[in-house]
Amino acid sequence: MVKTSKTYRIAAIAGDGIGQEVTPAAVSVLDAAAARGAFRVDWQHFPWGSQHYFDHGRMMPEDALDLLRPFDAILFGAVGDPRIQDNVTLNGLLLPIRRGFDQYACVRPAVLYAGVRCPLAGRQGGDIDFVVVRENTEGEYAQIGGGLHTGGPYEVAIQTATFTRHGTERVIRFAFDLARRRNGKRLLTSVTKSNAQGFSMGFWDRVFTQVARDYPDVRTESLLVDAACMDLVRRPGDFDVIVASNLFGDILTDLSAAITGSIGLAPSANLNPARTAPSLFEPVHGSAPDIVGKGIANPLATMLAGAMMLDFLGETDAAARVDAAVRAVLADGRAVTPDLGGPGTTQGVTDAVLARL
Ligand SMILES: NC(=O)c1ccc[n+]([C@@H]2O[C@H](COP(=O)([O-])OP(=O)(O)OC[C@H]3O[C@@H](n4cnc5c(N)ncnc54)[C@H](O)[C@@H]3O)[C@@H](O)[C@H]2O)c1
Repeated sequence: MVKTSKTYRIAAIAGDGIGQEVTPAAVSVLDAAAARGAFRVDWQHFPWGSQHYFDHGRMMPEDALDLLRPFDAILFGAVGDPRIQDNVTLNGLLLPIRRGFDQYACVRPAVLYAGVRCPLAGRQGGDIDFVVVRENTEGEYAQIGGGLHTGGPYEVAIQTATFTRHGTERVIRFAFDLARRRNGKRLLTSVTKSNAQGFSMGFWDRVFTQVARDYPDVRTESLLVDAACMDLVRRPGDFDVIVASNLFGDILTDLSAAITGSIGLAPSANLNPARTAPSLFEPVHGSAPDIVGKGIANPLATMLAGAMMLDFLGETDAAARVDAAVRAVLADGRAVTPDLGGPGTTQGVTDAVLARL
């Protein structure tokens, strides 16, 4: 019997759609991992999201960040409801948490696991293993802008991307540090569109070059985002760490999820590296209204996000156990859900992971 010494307080926000299906699955796996380690997880569930919006006119209460602040971390499911404009749901729940808690580094690993069919010809498990670091608090998602003459023939829409030296430099520095820590290639690829967006992206390129001087042991390359999309398909095995702005990181990680088998497998960590506020861990995917309620949502991305959470909390052995259990279920292949070509269900995959733990 393992002696329980430490308790982590984790806020769980299952949110919308399949978030309600994959979050409990991940919670059960993390509880099982904790039971085998020397720690406990004390969950508090927050019923925020689109139903909260229908009931109260807000996606979460006004003092939500105050309620979340004392927690060690946040596990998040998904947000988005076809009955509400996406910018209302996203800006009412997820983005204020990312910004308010200064979770400036969004870390999204892209791994082709053994047993997973890659849509690119000739690739096998282990051939793809990189991580995208996405700037998470400003850039194109800064939510600065407005409209004029709304609905009329002279309607104007303005959305301003915002890049600060502080925000740009710190995420690039984080990515360099990650490239140093990851075992191997020590290659950092910066992705911009500075040929067309000379002000913001030209600035990003300059900061990247300046910060690179502090990391002579890390090789660098800079790609335009269109070329990067091509290269992620043509030569995904070459990448190690990629750093990009909020929008480009968002788009690149749907692509990286697709080339590694399924968005149902792609985890995401929204990190406050200074640990001045809780970090948030979630799957890359959204609320998937097309499959909600069918019991076939793949919970593995949320479980892998949970493993990233354990790792960030310092529970590296438990994190490795969850990761290994997920890998074993994928390699076996019998329990996996339809997005991975299997006949499985959310519950079936969860049971299989629990059995491997
Ligand atoms: N972080 C988030 O919460 C987040 C991210 C992206 C989209 N959204 C929101 O989610 C809603 C739906 O957006 P979308 O359809 O563009 O993206 P989505 O990620 O929800 O779904 C895209 C496709 O992938 C499939 N899919 C996603 N997750 C899956 C899983 N775990 N298992 C199996 N299949 C899975 C879906 O069935 C769908 O066909 C929108 O309201 C959008 O704004 C939220």
